Amino acid sequence: MTASVKTAVLPIAGVGTRFLPATKSVPKEMLPIVDKPLVQYAVDEAIAAGITDFVFVVGDHNREILESYFGAVPALEKILEDRGKTKELEAVHGTYKSITSINFVKQDKPLGLGHAVWCAREFISDNHFAVMLPDDLVKGTPGCLSEMVEVFNKFGGNVVAVEDILREHTNKYGILDVLDDDGQIATAKGLVEKPNPDDAPSTLSVIGRYILSPEVLKHLELGQKGAGGEIQLTDAIAATIGKVDFRGFRFSGKRFDCGSKAGFVAANVAFALDHGDIAKGIHGTLKSLI
Ligand code: UTP
Repeated sequence: MTASVKTAVLPIAGVGTRFLPATKSVPKEMLPIVDKPLVQYAVDEAIAAGITDFVFVVGDHNREILESYFGAVPALEKILEDRGKTKELEAVHGTYKSITSINFVKQDKPLGLGHAVWCAREFISDNHFAVMLPDDLVKGTPGCLSEMVEVFNKFGGNVVAVEDILREHTNKYGILDVLDDDGQIATAKGLVEKPNPDDAPSTLSVIGRYILSPEVLKHLELGQKGAGGEIQLTDAIAATIGKVDFRGFRFSGKRFDCGSKAGFVAANVAFALDHGDIAKGIHGTLKSLI
C-alpha cells in the first residue's frame, strides 16, 4: 500500500491514575496485553498502515522507559543470540527495526490531549498525520488505522474512527453531529466533547484514532481550554469543519478501552484466547471460573 500518511503522533504524557499503584513505576502504555506492551500494539498497527515516522509525546515520568523500550538492548540481544533464541530475538528487534524515525517530545504539564498533540508540531510537516491513543486497543485485521488510511486516500479531509455507543455514555466521549451517514462513513457538521446525554447530537463517539490535517494545529496554537478545563483535540477538529471535510469511520475491529481496568482485563482475555500457545489453557480456566 502506498501510504499518504507517514507520521503518527502518540500522546502518552498522561499519568494513568486509574492504574495506580501499578503506574507508580510502570507507565500505563507499557502494561502488557499478554506479552506485548500496549504501546507496541499501536506501533504495529501504525506500521501495517504505512507509518514510518513516530512522535511520542511523553512526560518526565515515562520518557526514559519509553526511550529505552524503543532502543537496542545489546546485552539482552547477545544472550538471546548465544542461546539460539531466534524467535525471541525477532520479538526484541520488532520493537525498533522497522521504524524510520522516532522522536520524543515532552509535554511539561498534562494540559489536555489537544495540547499534547500541539507539543509534537515541530515533527509534523505540511501533510496529514495520524494520532493514536495506545490505551484504545483495536483488535482486528486489517488494523483500524489501515482502514482509515484507505478512507483518507479516497476522500481526504479529517478522518476519525467512531463507534456507536449508548446515549447514557455520551458524556465520556467526543460525539459527532452527523450530516449524512451511510452506515459505515458519517459526514459530520460538528463535534462536541463530552455532551450530556440529553444534549448529545448523536450517539456516534470518537475513539483514539485520528487522521488530521495540519490545519488542526493552527487552532491548537490558540491554546483555548474546553471541557474539563483542558485543551481538547476535538475542539480544534471541530473548529476546522467548513474548511476541512470531517468524516467518522466505523472500523471493523473490536475496541478495548484499556485506560479502564475492565477494558484492560477484557483485552487480555480476548488476546489470550487468540494466542496460539496459551489459548487452550485459558479457555479451560475461564470455563471453570465462570
Ligand atoms: P486519559 O484521559 O486516559 O488520561 O488520556 P491518563 O492520565 O492517561 O489516565 P487516567 O485517566 O489518569 O487513568 C487519554 C490519552 O491522552 C494522553 C494520555 O497519555 C492517554 O494516552 N494525554 C492526555 C496526554 O498525553 N496529555 C494530556 O495532557 C492528557
